[in-house]
Amino acid sequence: MKSMTILALAAGEGTRMKSALPKVLHRVAGETLMGHVFRAATPLTGSVGIVLGRGADEIKKVLPGNVRIFLQRQRLGSGHAVKCAASWLSRLGGNVLVLCGDAPLIRTETLRALAAKHSEENNSATLLTARVERPQGYGRVVRDAFQRPRAIVEEREATPDQKRIQEINSGTYCFRVNDLLKVLSRLRSDNSKGEYYITDVVELLAKEGKRVGAFCLEGEEEVLGVNDRSELAAAEGILRRRILHHLMKEGVTVMDPASTYVDVGVRVGRDSMLFPQTYLQGNTRIGSGCRLGPFTFLEDCWVGNGAELRAVFASKSRIEPEARVGPFAHLRPNSRLGPRSKVGNFVELKNAHVGAGSKVNHLAYLGDALLGKSVNIGAGVITCNYDGYKKSLTRIGAETFVGSNVNLVAPVRLGKGSVIGAGSTITRDVPAAALALERSSQIIKRQWARQKQRKIRKTSKKAKRP
Ligand code: UD1
Ligand code: MG
Repeated sequence: MKSMTILALAAGEGTRMKSALPKVLHRVAGETLMGHVFRAATPLTGSVGIVLGRGADEIKKVLPGNVRIFLQRQRLGSGHAVKCAASWLSRLGGNVLVLCGDAPLIRTETLRALAAKHSEENNSATLLTARVERPQGYGRVVRDAFQRPRAIVEEREATPDQKRIQEINSGTYCFRVNDLLKVLSRLRSDNSKGEYYITDVVELLAKEGKRVGAFCLEGEEEVLGVNDRSELAAAEGILRRRILHHLMKEGVTVMDPASTYVDVGVRVGRDSMLFPQTYLQGNTRIGSGCRLGPFTFLEDCWVGNGAELRAVFASKSRIEPEARVGPFAHLRPNSRLGPRSKVGNFVELKNAHVGAGSKVNHLAYLGDALLGKSVNIGAGVITCNYDGYKKSLTRIGAETFVGSNVNLVAPVRLGKGSVIGAGSTITRDVPAAALALERSSQIIKRQWARQKQRKIRKTSKKAKRP
């Protein structure tokens, strides 16, 4: 199939969202509405353009560099929006796929099928339509005696008979550019909204004897447009089910799809298990045979095969194969857990690299730290990485043993195989294989407790005497 020009329309006001954020920048399944549309459409295309209105400056910032932007300064309708890109389209020629920037559920397969039908039938226009139970609010597809689309009639303009038509216009179309441009200039705004409707192009083409076709979907799930927050939530739910269904088909166990949230673009390997209340966001990659959750939230994380994460919050971190994390662990950005390492309950890491097979099992904070392999970190160990002005690094050599409740005042280095006594505050480097202790020596007062008790008893007897 030949490549297609893509033109997304996104200059609508988005009033019903009641939001400071432009509508197409709202997110479902971790991606903007506009991002979903481009994700679906770009596999088909050569050049991509978008028509913007309100919030154009903000939208421009997140658009990929190769997208051509057209500004529609006055919102004069979907037909006028396409006109804003007319000279670009005429230079490119060929065919154009026009879509709505706020319909995130459209699939690449559907767009391919639409484009294939367009070229096979050699049409001037091919509409993506859907047969729905409740067509209210949509434009209706009027067909002629040969079942060819003859016009699209908007709800407001439809006669009672036309309102009963259950085939609706999705707002997605393929056009042969030359034919489109010829009729575009003849669009008129003498309708109930006073707008130039792109949909009127269909009737103009049909009247000229041009071929108009339609690719019809069953149900409205794929063509749902987001106009308000309820539709945003509906789109989220549909996408979420779709993503989970795909993962399950690929061999991932999702114990409770109703409480599992996976962003579009996240990858999960075979035989991994997602327990309830698991959230996988952004650019997250999970290997095979992993166990995630319950209660696990990962954002932009890489997790190697066979890792286990229970009740973990992690962001921008790397967890290597067969590491065990949690429950109740917090991995802040740039944490890296080596293969077979263990990070246990109430442990916080930030910019900390934990070597292969090392253990940080309980109640510790490691910030700006580099740990070699097979290190043991006792309960309550803290890296004092911040002196109020700057952050400093703690380096801990391989096979080092750090006892419980140790403060490591950075910058500091613990040599390979060293041992740090419990309760020490370490401010100077420790050589390899050395013992470092920093605490006052223990005092023993023999029989002190017994004598103290006797004294107390005596004074209380005296007090009782009359
Ligand atoms: C449109 C179709 C309708 C279809 C429905 C599907 C028209 C006239 N009608 O109706 O047949 O059933 O979509 O959801 O197109 N836009 C601009 N600039 C404008 C006006 C609109 O860029 O001046 C964009 C919008 O951002 C949107 C698209 O065009 O992406 C459609 O416009 P919208 O106002 O949502 O039309 P609907 O009434 O939903
Ligand atoms: Mg709409």
